[in-house]
Amino acid sequence: EKGTYPHYMLKEIDEQPAVIRKIVQAYQNESGDLTIDGNIISAMGAADRIYIIAAGTSYHAGLVGKQFIEKMAKIPVEVHVASEFVYNMPLLSENPLFIFISQSGETADSRAVLVEVKELGYKALTITNVPGSTLSREADYTLLLHAGPEIAVASTKAYTAQLAVLSILANVTATSLGLSSTIDLGHELGIVANSMDGLIDAKEEMEAIAREYLSTTRNAFFIGRSLDFYVGLEGSLKLKEISYIQAEGFAGGELKHGTIALIEDGTPIIALATQEAVNLSIRGNVKEVVARGANPCIISMKGLETEEDRFVLPVVHELLAPLVSVIPLQLISYYAALHRDCDVDKPRNLAKSVTVE
Ligand code: M6R
Repeated sequence: EKGTYPHYMLKEIDEQPAVIRKIVQAYQNESGDLTIDGNIISAMGAADRIYIIAAGTSYHAGLVGKQFIEKMAKIPVEVHVASEFVYNMPLLSENPLFIFISQSGETADSRAVLVEVKELGYKALTITNVPGSTLSREADYTLLLHAGPEIAVASTKAYTAQLAVLSILANVTATSLGLSSTIDLGHELGIVANSMDGLIDAKEEMEAIAREYLSTTRNAFFIGRSLDFYVGLEGSLKLKEISYIQAEGFAGGELKHGTIALIEDGTPIIALATQEAVNLSIRGNVKEVVARGANPCIISMKGLETEEDRFVLPVVHELLAPLVSVIPLQLISYYAALHRDCDVDKPRNLAKSVTVE
């Protein structure tokens, strides 16, 4: 039930801090440590390469998940769009492990790949919000998102839940492998949940940003580097899906290789700056687009901010920044759609779960 909320999407955005806390609880053992089923951790440790398969928002979560797994657990990861992978499989490694990420657990494109890899005799793990879903039943292992039902077509809380579960999987694997690249994840996810609370309270500010940048535009671009690039892809999907504004996410460094030709007077550019190593270079990209007339909206993380920034996010562990930086993008999309009288929860031409290939 959406209760007093005008839309499920807004309710689901608001639920995110509680979902993160629930995930931490669900994956904690009696001594308060985060744990994962030993069979899954053995399968992770035995893999020489991990293949993440997903679609849409879940694919975007996979792109961030790759960074978690590679940076913490030091296992190489490839991320593939399910509908492409199915007919164009890359050369596989000797001991692959497949991870399917799917909120619904019913996405036909992902299932087609699962059927294929099971036939080849490989192990598969499904990360899903729906216990007993097709992808969960047909895989060897399942990790649940604990996000509660997601009703709005635009995925919000499932994305942050996917990131939280992927971070736990990566960190627990790293611990089991005796690596020093682990972090105090229970504590860090607690900080993430508290930061999310603050962002959710900043709705008026997000509505103002949507009004200022997106009320009349026909297009909008999201730029970022490293993890911020992947969050930009998700932000642009959210915006196009529910507001019908033509939106694209780009890697900051790719602008000069073509995209910059699209910048006109007043074109909104939403730039994310949460990663210290690329802070200067993304700001250089903002200068390049401003010189061509763009209207920049910089969302940065505290400690990296400059005076020109439109919104500053509270500090969280740098690797976990996507869990908080996506929230303003979800809210901005929500308000942009609302201002344009769009059907926020049920955008045209879309279904909540895509059960045809
Ligand atoms: O249920 P799934 O996670 O497998 O769904 C995948 C995509 O269809 C889904 O994420 C879609 O892109 C959302 N509508 C995005 O908001």
